[in-house]
Amino acid sequence: MEVIRIPRVMQGTSKGLIIKGKSTGLVPTMGALHEGHLSLVRRAKEENDITVVSIFVNPIQFGPTEDFESYPRDIEGDTEKLGKEGVDIIFMPDIHSMYPEKFSTSVEVQKISERLCGAFRPGHFRGVATVVTKLFHVVKPTRSYFGAKDFQQIVVIKQFVKDLDMDIDIIVCPTIREKDGLAMSSRNTYLNKEQRQAATVIYRCLKEASDLVKSGIIDGNHVKGVMQDTLLKEPEVSVIDYAGVYDPLTLDELSEIKGDALLAIALKIGNTRLIDNMLVTKGR
Ligand code: PAF
Repeated sequence: MEVIRIPRVMQGTSKGLIIKGKSTGLVPTMGALHEGHLSLVRRAKEENDITVVSIFVNPIQFGPTEDFESYPRDIEGDTEKLGKEGVDIIFMPDIHSMYPEKFSTSVEVQKISERLCGAFRPGHFRGVATVVTKLFHVVKPTRSYFGAKDFQQIVVIKQFVKDLDMDIDIIVCPTIREKDGLAMSSRNTYLNKEQRQAATVIYRCLKEASDLVKSGIIDGNHVKGVMQDTLLKEPEVSVIDYAGVYDPLTLDELSEIKGDALLAIALKIGNTRLIDNMLVTKGR
């Protein structure tokens, strides 16, 4: 397994792979790898000649009061895990090589970036779109792999890939959950024992809402009300950023569920912000 730290070097390697006719699968990560990330790595390995995993805690997608400094970092553990998976290349740039002095460009996807998490994390999706665009230009992947837990991130990425004519397949992989349903996330490590137990309310709430929709309830506001009630009953939940029913394409709130719907939640337990979602189809 090769570790590459310099974007230009990675770019040279990527060009060489393209000339040799090799396909490349890229799994972009911020490290602190868990089974969710590893499921993306396994899928990338199955579908490509070469698998590249990038590890970069991207400062420009964190707000000034968010957890950039404290975000979990475990380079040694990550390298070991990726070695065991048989990854070909880890691309691990430093902040200065990604954002040199006078860096002044950003990629912004309008409207959908302002919905849901975008309303509570201004600039977050601009940061994500910018870094993922850079990673795509450096690694030049055939396919790139993302987890469904970050539903809005995927909608944003698919939109700029289409708008900017990037020839890359975006592959969405299922959310990997703990046994009690909590979606795996690097941020789960912030939770103490009581908070970790309380966090199971998120999956329970999504499941309950999904059963309502499947049973034929089409009133989005009713489903939203049930979701809010369930979450408010959990005393460890300190803030609900949003919980409700959304159009999976536009991310607009749905008052009437006609077909596919996205059930989505973002809340805080203590200071830890957690997100999760579930796609559901009316009556099915
Ligand atoms: O999902 C993440 O871990 C990050 O947002 C990503 C896609 C690696 C960009 O920094």
